[in-house]
Amino acid sequence: MSGTETYLLDGCARAGSHTLDVYRKHGGYDTLARVLKELTPAEVTEIVKDSGLRGRGGAGFPTGLKWSFMPDPAQDDRTRYMALNADESEPGTCKDRVLLREDPHRLIEGCLIAAWAMQLSAVYIYVRGEYRLPYDRVQAAVNEARAAGLVGAKILGTDFSCEIFMHKGAGAYICGEETGLMESLEGKRGHPRPKPPFPAGFGLWGQPTTVNNVETIFNVPFILERGADWFKNLGTEKSPGNFLCGVSGHVERPGVYEVPLGMPAQRILDEHAGGVWKGRALKAWFPGGSSTGLMPASTIDTPMDHDSIRGIGSMFGTGAMILLDETACVVRASFVIARFYDHESCGQCSQCREGTQWLSQIFERIEDGRGRPEDIDLLTDLAHGMAPGKTICALSDAAAIPTHSVVKHFRAELLEHIELGRCPLQAKRVAEGAPA
Ligand SMILES: Cc1cc2nc3c(=O)[nH]c(=O)nc-3n(C[C@H](O)[C@H](O)[C@H](O)COP(=O)(O)O)c2cc1C
Ligand code: SF4
Repeated sequence: MSGTETYLLDGCARAGSHTLDVYRKHGGYDTLARVLKELTPAEVTEIVKDSGLRGRGGAGFPTGLKWSFMPDPAQDDRTRYMALNADESEPGTCKDRVLLREDPHRLIEGCLIAAWAMQLSAVYIYVRGEYRLPYDRVQAAVNEARAAGLVGAKILGTDFSCEIFMHKGAGAYICGEETGLMESLEGKRGHPRPKPPFPAGFGLWGQPTTVNNVETIFNVPFILERGADWFKNLGTEKSPGNFLCGVSGHVERPGVYEVPLGMPAQRILDEHAGGVWKGRALKAWFPGGSSTGLMPASTIDTPMDHDSIRGIGSMFGTGAMILLDETACVVRASFVIARFYDHESCGQCSQCREGTQWLSQIFERIEDGRGRPEDIDLLTDLAHGMAPGKTICALSDAAAIPTHSVVKHFRAELLEHIELGRCPLQAKRVAEGAPA
């Protein structure tokens, strides 16, 4: 891990940061103007590829490589789109909200640079329905940019034209999955599509489409302004740059913090989030949102980058750490998460539709004191049946991973909960003032 420099949140701290005036006063849209004048689309994609930027939406896929999957316009003259994924619904994840709300023009500049690189006709920004102020801020920024000749026909007096349209989600986690999102944008139910075909070949309305996350695209103007080498100097070799780490749960100062990829989770917890609340000990943590699984406290010194987190059997995901203190009940936490995935499954695949329901019901009965010792192996069997490759999208796996992790790392506590018929930690919580 290298670098202590910040850039992602710097603009957000300025008074009136969401307005065009303030953004332009600090050099906003200068990079877009230079890119349109001096760089070919292929050169922009090459710089983004060279920077090593990886998607911040969950899978960590290399962004420049993804852009290069779009067909060559000389050989395929279909209309081309980008869907900007601002659905942000993974439990624990709240980083995109800050960027949408506080620095929407930088996001628009990133979208337009991406649009130039991929020769797009339009960008659709799909915003989580509950994000009312962020949505209004981005819409106002698009209006301001359009009035200033930055969006729409002949951008900044060049021959390049690109529209930006906004879309509000309606509270469905599955609409954050890239093909569910495209179905929803087309006005249909957010049911993910089987892949292949992949969005670059058959996306929105059957046209070539790239789906990128808000934070991913937010990095783009910085990379084009400061260069790929500058970006590679931050973070780690395989996961360059800074990321926005959302920290929630039992910590003194929950929030969204900008840190270089590769910073150990323990340091983020101590130096930014103020440590575990009330001076208690850490019991467990989710490294990157609920679908990345519950890890034991012994792994908290792991560097927050894709490879290191994979090394402890988890995933970097959205980089959103959720921390549980020593009084937290892993059964209760597992039930809450399983219930979420059960509610959010779209129901197309039987493994996911039935599996998420059964996981939720089994965790509920253990939580209620009606669990049986054999339930632990039943949970594992069910989760195995929900593995990737058997379903249309990754939601099924997102529900299975926390189940596998809780059985692997907290089997003894599950068993104790079942044998006692109640939470073994309840007495401790009551002693500390919780309701009996
Ligand atoms: C169930 C599910 C929900 C998802 N929700 C989001 C989301 O809210 N925001 C997001 O950017 N990516 C989400 N993703 C990942 C997207 O499918 C896609 O990989 C991502 O938007 C690509 O952007 P990136 O390459 O810039 O990371 C979700 C994936 C799944 C399986
Ligand atoms: S895995 Fe689940 S959420 Fe994804 S398509 Fe199948 S049923 Fe729907």
